[in-house]
Amino acid sequence: MEQDGNVSKIFKAELTDAEFSKLSQFIMSEYGIKMPPEKKIMLQSRLQKRLKTLGMDNFKDYIEYLFSPHGMSEEVIHMMDVVSTNKTDFFRESVHFDFMLSTALPKLCEKYPHGNLNIWSAGCSSGEEPYTIAITMCEFKETHPTSNYEIFATDISTQMLETAYSGIYKEERIADIPFVLKKKYFLKSKNKEEKKVRVKSDLRSKIKYDRINLLELRPVRDPKYHIVFCRNVLIYFDRPTQLQILTALCSNILPGGYLFLGHSESISGFDLPIKTQIPTVFLKQ
Ligand SMILES: C[S@@+](CC[C@H](N)C(=O)[O-])C[C@H]1O[C@@H](n2cnc3c(N)ncnc32)[C@H](O)[C@@H]1O
Repeated sequence: MEQDGNVSKIFKAELTDAEFSKLSQFIMSEYGIKMPPEKKIMLQSRLQKRLKTLGMDNFKDYIEYLFSPHGMSEEVIHMMDVVSTNKTDFFRESVHFDFMLSTALPKLCEKYPHGNLNIWSAGCSSGEEPYTIAITMCEFKETHPTSNYEIFATDISTQMLETAYSGIYKEERIADIPFVLKKKYFLKSKNKEEKKVRVKSDLRSKIKYDRINLLELRPVRDPKYHIVFCRNVLIYFDRPTQLQILTALCSNILPGGYLFLGHSESISGFDLPIKTQIPTVFLKQ
C-alpha cells in the first residue's frame, strides 16, 4: 500500500450516490443502458480504469471533465467502452446458425434469387458474431454457389470494433469450433508461444464496420437487410427503448427477411411487423 500510494489512491476513488445518479441518468438518457443503484459498484470499478488512464484520483474531477465540451467530444466514447458489457462467443446460441443454414438462407435465396444478401450484426461486440455469420454464409455458398453476401457490423464501443476489425483472438476462444471449420477459416499465429489465431482475410473482407448507437436509429423507408442480428443488446434497455430500437430495426428488414434476438429477449407486448418462426427468430411480414 505504502510504496504505490498514488495507485492505491486512484483505486480507492469512490462514487458518491449523487455522482452515480448523475452518471447513470446520463448513460440512460443518451445510450438507453439501464443503471439501477445495484450497478453502482460495477460502474465505479469500471470507471476507475478511466480515472487511472487520465491520472485522476477522484470522481468529482472525472465528472467535471466528462461533462465539459472537451469531455463530451473525447471522453464519452471511452466511458462507454468500459461501461458496456461485451460478453460474446463464436457460434453463441448455435441454433440460430442452424436455422440460418436450414431455413432462412434457402428461403431468402428463393425470394431474392439475383441479389446479394445483406446482413447486419447490430451490437457485434468483438466480432465473434459477424465472423460466425460469415462462416455460416461460406458454408451455405458451398451448396448455393451463386449466393453472395455482405455483412455490416456495428457497435457503440470503439474498442470492441477495433478488436473485431483485427480478427485476432486467443486460441482458446475458438476451442469449441469444429476442427474442419477452424482449419478453413482461421490462421494460427507464426509465433507459437502467442497462442493466437486470425480470421482469414477473405472472411474479414466481407465485413464492414461502423460505430452506431442503437438509440440514435430512426425508422427508414427503404429497407435493405435480409437478416438482422441484434442479440443480447436489448436486455440493457428499458421497455420503451427496446420498442424504439426494434421498430427502427424492423423497418430496415426486407419483406421475408429475418430478425434474430438473444435467448432472453422477447417482443411480447410489442406491436411489430414480425412473426415468430422459432423462439427468438422472427420473420418480417
Ligand atoms: C453482450 S454484447 C452482445 C454481443 C453479440 N451480439 C452476442 O450476442 O454475442 C452487447 C453489445 O452491445 C453493445 N451496445 C450496448 N449499448 C449499445 C448501444 N446503445 N448501441 C450500440 N451497441 C450497444 C455493447 O458495446 C456490446 O458490445
